[in-house]
Amino acid sequence: MRIAIIGSGYVGLVSGACLADFGHNVVCIDRDDAKIRALQQGEIPIFEPLLADLVIKNQREDRLSFSTDLGPAVAEAEVVFIAVGTPARQRDGQADLSYVHAAVRDIAMSMSGYTVVVVKSTVPVGTGDGIERLIREVRPQADVSVASNPEFLREGAAIGDFKRPDRIVIGVEDDRARQVMSEVYRPLFLNTSPIVVMSRRSAEVTKYAANAFLATKIAFINEVADLCEQAGADVQEVAHGIGLDKRIGGKFLHAGPGFGGSCFPKDMQAMIKMAQDHGTPLRIVETAAAVNDQRKRVMARKIIRACGGSVRHRTIAVLGLTFKPNTDDMRDSPAIAIITGLQDAGARIRAYDPEGMDQARTVLDDVAYCGDAYTCVEDADALVIVTEWDMFRALDLDKIRGLMRRPVLVDLRNIYGAAEATKAGFAYVSVGRGR
Ligand code: UGA
Repeated sequence: MRIAIIGSGYVGLVSGACLADFGHNVVCIDRDDAKIRALQQGEIPIFEPLLADLVIKNQREDRLSFSTDLGPAVAEAEVVFIAVGTPARQRDGQADLSYVHAAVRDIAMSMSGYTVVVVKSTVPVGTGDGIERLIREVRPQADVSVASNPEFLREGAAIGDFKRPDRIVIGVEDDRARQVMSEVYRPLFLNTSPIVVMSRRSAEVTKYAANAFLATKIAFINEVADLCEQAGADVQEVAHGIGLDKRIGGKFLHAGPGFGGSCFPKDMQAMIKMAQDHGTPLRIVETAAAVNDQRKRVMARKIIRACGGSVRHRTIAVLGLTFKPNTDDMRDSPAIAIITGLQDAGARIRAYDPEGMDQARTVLDDVAYCGDAYTCVEDADALVIVTEWDMFRALDLDKIRGLMRRPVLVDLRNIYGAAEATKAGFAYVSVGRGR
């Protein structure tokens, strides 16, 4: 099958590389000339495990190419994916569809023969209808179907998520499009990944509902963690105890400093706005978003308490800056609010992150970035673990203790146990584990 993907950002690149690896012939398009030139040389602009190898392999085998020229790629394609960004609109938090609409106009001018236009970008309900109208305005005779095919990829695990998904959601309004989309995903179908076909509007809502539910689950367990901490219970035991109930499920019950990233906060905002516009406010989602925002600031206060009530002129070492491990993404990372809160209280910050420091430099001022975890903790008055990179899970605590000025360890991801930290001489504070 010939496939064009408009937008070679995170979603477009991962989808393009994986679809090419299934055997399809894929062209990834982007307006950014420098990005496309780099991709043509096999240079990948984002950090995502396994992605670079997959891109290079499929390029070499002639199934994957990159171009700034949308016209010919769309003209030849049977399926055109739209994977451009939908950032939050400044004025109201709703998803900004200007990139989507610009792409649709370009596609409408260039397509030839029956084409399925597939929206992968996260868009408000009804966007597919609007796209169909727009195409028919530009090309009244167009032989086109518009489908919704939201992605459920986690950064850092995106290739595995694409190739072994829990499910594939396809929203279509006609049988021809359903058949074409089944053909696109046939390799997975054979792998027994369920393909769930539904209406376009249902698919659009499914994406938001999935993210909002997962985010709410995290906000919920974080509040339970606060209760556990005060009541002398352990949130990890509680999460295990409830998670074994299949109706609840054990995943996304890790308490921590609050969720971040480019998806949950933005999609919750967009869904909240969308629901308000439909006259059906989502109070639970609204509350979960507010609880999470506040939590990030509360984490700074938690650290200050662990330092005896003041961090003025103290040095705090922060390990982990990205919103989660295995990504270089700093967008909405809890580390930003935490570090800013500590700086406002007068602390000096030293920090180390294996992949996130370049991006961190663009959003955080006055941070001393270090070359590794051990350098980072030198002469620090407290060590705070914000992101649970694997390399932080087995630190030599005795060595760390020896390098620090004061032995305070604030473990916001619960990757150490109180017993081992105390044995190494630390005053240890974690999340939701009261004694
Ligand atoms: C999320 C969803 O998991 C994907 O299914 C979805 O496709 C994607 O958004 C998207 O809309 O594009 P992602 O943002 O990459 O993926 O990251 P997650 O692994 O979901 O983590 C989000 C945040 O929640 C992180 O800050 C993480 O640390 C936090 N989290 C996650 C917790 O605090 N506790 C948990 O138990 C799980």
